[in-house]
Amino acid sequence: NRKVITVDGPSGSGKGTICRLLAQELGWHLLDSGALYRLTAMAARHHGVALDDVESLQVLAAHLDVQFRTDGQDDLKVILEGEEVTRSMRTEEVGADASLVAALGPVRQALLQRQRDFAQAPGLIADGRDMGTVVFPEACLKIYLDASAEERAQRRYNQLISKGLSASLDDILSDIQARDDRDMNRPVSPLKPAPEAVILDTTQLTIEEVLEVVLDQAKH
Ligand code: CDP
Repeated sequence: NRKVITVDGPSGSGKGTICRLLAQELGWHLLDSGALYRLTAMAARHHGVALDDVESLQVLAAHLDVQFRTDGQDDLKVILEGEEVTRSMRTEEVGADASLVAALGPVRQALLQRQRDFAQAPGLIADGRDMGTVVFPEACLKIYLDASAEERAQRRYNQLISKGLSASLDDILSDIQARDDRDMNRPVSPLKPAPEAVILDTTQLTIEEVLEVVLDQAKH
């Protein structure tokens, strides 16, 4: 696991973008662990499984039929049970559902090995909440990205609008605060920086500036 860079942090801290650029820059694999929680929540909806039915959710997570396909340059297609969900998995509703199922220890356990299997040569960029603390404790570099809730809400809003989706800034802010609260205060794998993590507050930083700091750390 030496060639793993973990990037953890709350919703909207810029992890997704930074991780994609890092993976491109270094030519390493990318794990979007949040996608696995989103897909588990979507599969639950498809199969009529309640989001508090821990046993069924654990089975769903363990047998998740998902493919991550790269075709073309950097477009990653996500296929869940044969159906393309690349866009539909990114909605705020699915994000909120994901944070509910992610609070369940048995679901996290069921997804653990699947996440570790992404660690292949030449290296892996792991994006999530517990990458540095639980999934890849041996990672060679651990980054924790943070930003104020207001700034993160604004970024998420801009992102949704630019994708042609409709959004309300107020709703997004309260969703982000609720999600932070749940992710940071759950008993299993709560969101927190690993003790050795490099903590970066990105509130005032551009994507380019964050990328530069992280790449600089990666060279050490
Ligand atoms: O992009 P955004 O941060 O909104 O969401 P995401 O990274 O796709 O994660 C969705 C939800 O999955 C988060 O709110 C977390 O509750 C959960 N998650 C987690 O618990 N552990 C991870 N390693 C990744 C995501």
